[in-house]
Amino acid sequence: MISNVHAVTTSFFPRWDPEVLFKILNNIHDVVIVIDLDTTIVFANKAYAKILGVPIAKVIGRRLDIIEPNAKTIEVLRTSESSYCRRSYLNSLRINVVGSTFPLYNGKNIIGCVSIFKNINDVVELNRELDQTKGVADYLKEQLEQEEQLPSSFEEYIGQNSRLKKILKLAAKVAKTDSTVLILGESGVGKEVLARVVHNSSSRNKRPMIKVNCAAIPEDLIESELFGYEDGAFTGAKKGGKLGKFELAHKGTIFLDEIGDMSLTMQAKLLRILQEKEFERVGGTRPIKVDIRVIAATNRNLEKMIEQGTFRSDLYYRLNIVPLLLTPLRERKDDILELAKVFLKQFAGELGHEMTLSPQVEKILQSYEWPGNIRELKNILEHASIVCSDEVITSDHLPAHIIPKKIRSSVKEKSFDIKEIVASVEKDVILSALNACNNNRTDALKALGISRKSFYNKLHQYGIIDHSSLP
Ligand SMILES: Nc1ncnc2c1ncn2[C@@H]1O[C@H](COP(=O)(O)OP(=O)(O)OP(=O)(O)O)[C@@H](O)[C@H]1O
Ligand SMILES: [Mg+2]
Repeated sequence: MISNVHAVTTSFFPRWDPEVLFKILNNIHDVVIVIDLDTTIVFANKAYAKILGVPIAKVIGRRLDIIEPNAKTIEVLRTSESSYCRRSYLNSLRINVVGSTFPLYNGKNIIGCVSIFKNINDVVELNRELDQTKGVADYLKEQLEQEEQLPSSFEEYIGQNSRLKKILKLAAKVAKTDSTVLILGESGVGKEVLARVVHNSSSRNKRPMIKVNCAAIPEDLIESELFGYEDGAFTGAKKGGKLGKFELAHKGTIFLDEIGDMSLTMQAKLLRILQEKEFERVGGTRPIKVDIRVIAATNRNLEKMIEQGTFRSDLYYRLNIVPLLLTPLRERKDDILELAKVFLKQFAGELGHEMTLSPQVEKILQSYEWPGNIRELKNILEHASIVCSDEVITSDHLPAHIIPKKIRSSVKEKSFDIKEIVASVEKDVILSALNACNNNRTDALKALGISRKSFYNKLHQYGIIDHSSLP
């Protein structure tokens, strides 16, 4: 077989005709050079000129040990040991090359050396850039990691949105101090959750956070609720008196929720406590000192209320030391699916069966505007997980009003369900009334012409408030 190959090859190449050999060598895209025993360059192919940028005539006849004394080719000549796929640097040309070199023999005698190599400067340059980019990336990663981590109590607060993260970082900083915090944001956006997280990461976390819902307590009771009362302070008062929320919160945190719904009289009393950290119980004369941290929250526009004369500016400035403005869900849509998954997991635990969202439902959730924010999202998913008896929540399990019209007509027709239509219209009317009354619930219920009880029941029913906000 081998002799056959040899015969075919030798019959094709006329013996001693170097022209054919040169043609082959000149058509190779890698550099080929041949040196003789005293390192004189006796052959260089066309690729040599092309790749190294040096005319062949300039190198033929020159000694490689003078041009490039450290060349691999010289070492191979000296040692007679071939080298394969080795990388080296040509000082004279300032390029990186990779290739193979092997000795040439005439019979048993070494007569020179041949090197075949390619220029890998571009690759080396790319590698260097890559190394540098990697270095910069590692540096930035390190910097990011060094940036303050949120305390573990913030894990409860779901959301990765960059605007939200900024607020959470500020909240984590302020949590460590005793500063008053004012949490602002639309209804259902997570103000109470944030208040709890701030309290839990503060040094007061061994003591309770006492919540006062300023909107839900009737005007004539709020004073005794906040400050407590002495024995016999008024008819119907409990024997022995009662501690108010401020005393209960001593050494802990008081959370004044819906602060924008407090009457002007109460605002004046609250201002005094914030300034002096002391108060008297109803029917009492003895001043009581308390050590409290105040967190207040509202969905009302306090600055607008100041302009309208319904909120005291001095109280506002007392409260507005560190304002934390929570972004509405429609402006952090990147968090919707994460929140949805966490809630679904929670409901799955309660209901005992795992559920996922169909891709269409994911799209619907992401395109809806969420006027009721996270609470509305949670309520809708709770409803969906109850009505869904298998593993995938589809648009059939969602309330009609959140489904865009063009999808609605293609899914199971529900638009004749009169209860659902009435509920959807009623919810829209309530939300518009709240909006028109700058979220003042008393004004909204008057405008709607319904009783306070029925108003609050509806707010709860439509997920605009949760049960803890019921009067
Ligand atoms: N970031 C969050 N991570 C997990 N759950 C959240 C988050 N934000 C809100 N929620 C959930 O959404 C619901 C509403 O949150 P919360 O009561 O804190 O809102 P709010 O801003 O105080 O509303 P309102 O103005 O009506 O009082 C709660 O069930 C809460 O558990
Ligand atoms: Mg709240």
